[in-house]
Amino acid sequence: TKVPVITIDGPSGAGKGTVSRALAKKLGWHFLDSGAIYRSLAVAVTQAAIDPQDIDAVVRVAESMDLRFEANDPPRIFLGGQDISHKIQTEDCGSTASKIAAHGPVRQALLQKQRDFQREPGLVADGRDMGTVVFPDASYKIFLTASAEVRAKRRHKQLKEKGADVNLDRLTKEIEERDRRDKERAEAPLTVPDGAVLIDSSDLTIDQVIARCLDIIGGR
Ligand code: C5P
Repeated sequence: TKVPVITIDGPSGAGKGTVSRALAKKLGWHFLDSGAIYRSLAVAVTQAAIDPQDIDAVVRVAESMDLRFEANDPPRIFLGGQDISHKIQTEDCGSTASKIAAHGPVRQALLQKQRDFQREPGLVADGRDMGTVVFPDASYKIFLTASAEVRAKRRHKQLKEKGADVNLDRLTKEIEERDRRDKERAEAPLTVPDGAVLIDSSDLTIDQVIARCLDIIGGR
């Protein structure tokens, strides 16, 4: 029998992370933060002093990197034994991640690592291409979005709470640039998957979004 998957795709700052984690917890299912895998690769590439444009070298790092996830609250992520949970949260890291994520061979190298998360009793998968490429047969597909202004403000608040020194105007520009790159790339661009339910979280609380998701997957 097939292990059920709920995919949650959308641009940055739409609330995907918080909502997916909460859903996974509620259902007792596994959780895949696919963005964290791309971000970890960005850290690995930076630490190895590799040029992010050197795609062959980036692919080699992707194939050999030793990533471990700990499903704590908050979840932790280890690269070769080093805790990089904090390192992957900066917008700089997100930006490098989105540059290397534009390349097909890089995405290919990370595909199986993501599919390995599909285990009993189920999986909630958060990303950009979860419903289109990684889990096209997912039981439920959600596309979570919000206005650009709301998303930038949320990311700003989130980063500030984590103690980062961030400027809202600069962050807004960086996020817009990253979203544009994610939407316009040729490989697995950010798009609404066929059959996905669209949720605009601009005027909703996290709890309202979670309630709507639970409605969609109904009766579980
Ligand atoms: O979701 P998060 O902001 O952590 O993702 C960081 C970057 O990783 C995204 O901007 C995107 O370029 C890339 N990514 C991707 N495919 C995914 C998840 C993330 O290309 N499934």
